[in-house]
Amino acid sequence: MKVNLCLGAYSAVFKDFIASKPFTKIFLVTDETVWGIYGEEVRNAFDLTTRSIFILPSGESCKTLENIRKTWSFFIDKKVDKSTLVIAFGGGSVSDSVGFAASTFKRGIETLYIPTTLLAQVDAAIGGKTAINIGGVKNVVGTFSFPLIIISDTHFLKSLPSDEIKNGIAEMLKHSLLCSKEYFDKLNAKTKVEEFINEDLIIESAKFKTKVVEEDPFDKSERKQLNFGHTIGHAIESLLLQQKKDISHGAAVAAGLVMETYLSYKYFELNRSVYEDVLTAVSKYFDKVQFTEPDFEMLIDLMTLDKKNIHNEIFMVILRDIGQQEILAVSPPQIREALHVYINL
Ligand SMILES: NC(=O)c1ccc[n+]([C@@H]2O[C@H](COP(=O)([O-])OP(=O)(O)OC[C@H]3O[C@@H](n4cnc5c(N)ncnc54)[C@H](O)[C@@H]3O)[C@@H](O)[C@H]2O)c1
Repeated sequence: MKVNLCLGAYSAVFKDFIASKPFTKIFLVTDETVWGIYGEEVRNAFDLTTRSIFILPSGESCKTLENIRKTWSFFIDKKVDKSTLVIAFGGGSVSDSVGFAASTFKRGIETLYIPTTLLAQVDAAIGGKTAINIGGVKNVVGTFSFPLIIISDTHFLKSLPSDEIKNGIAEMLKHSLLCSKEYFDKLNAKTKVEEFINEDLIIESAKFKTKVVEEDPFDKSERKQLNFGHTIGHAIESLLLQQKKDISHGAAVAAGLVMETYLSYKYFELNRSVYEDVLTAVSKYFDKVQFTEPDFEMLIDLMTLDKKNIHNEIFMVILRDIGQQEILAVSPPQIREALHVYINL
């Protein structure tokens, strides 16, 4: 499996790509916010008519079955077929939703992604996972389907709100810890959110994800390492959402990174200095997530639902060193200790 990732001036890359492909029709699906900012520019750059654009609601709300049905209806109306190209232009919600609609329409039509958030450029658009939410359960229905090409241009990130940039920062920090000390040190040298809108840093993160996905496209082995920080992070995100408290995915993952690095140091011989560095890096951009001791058992219950678990034991990604990781069982008392240390930071 080869992931075709191209970083640079989107319009030129698109024209080069399209020149050699015999597509009879091109449509673009986006969300309201992205289209509101870049619609005119992109329509002109790609020479599209307004009839070839389909606009979804912004963000997570586009990942519903109802919006998939509307997208399929648009495809039927426009006589989309195997010689059509569908462009998904937006953040991870748009690529998840459009990727799902396209991969199930006529058992799969060709797509091209243009990610417009930092998180989508370093993570969501790379890897061929599509997903929608059903009955409040996130990403519960989805497919594996790879776009022909992913065109990433930092030009689109200039309008991104700071909290959205932070969601990308959490995943970049994760990638760096799984990748190399050199990359982690480069990220840790940054002090401001905007400094992460940096082509070289984004390329490094996107290339790391690409490499892992190419080794294990269908998430059977190697790719599970990308769950680092997410076993505890997902549990925290679910708990706070159940408690109707605001929590961003990035803040939950950042807390997960801190606690899973703590467990790596305390029980699996990771050097303490790595834990201290992760804490420093995360604290620059994320406030501490608020939960208390009475929440611990619920958090551990939520972790027992994690798909990495075997025989009712909680498995998580453990760092032996930066760039060296393993998936290992961690006991509830060890997890309780990490939660305790975190709330007392
Ligand atoms: N498929 C995967 O492998 C994968 C991996 C990680 C996350 N995801 C999914 O990605 C989704 C989150 O994606 P996201 O973080 O990219 O956010 P998003 O797509 O939900 O967008 C967040 C908000 O930012 C707006 N926005 C997007 N680009 C903008 C820009 N350039 N300027 C200003 N506003 C902009 C959107 O309209 C939206 O309101 C989640 O649904 C998550 O489940 C998927």
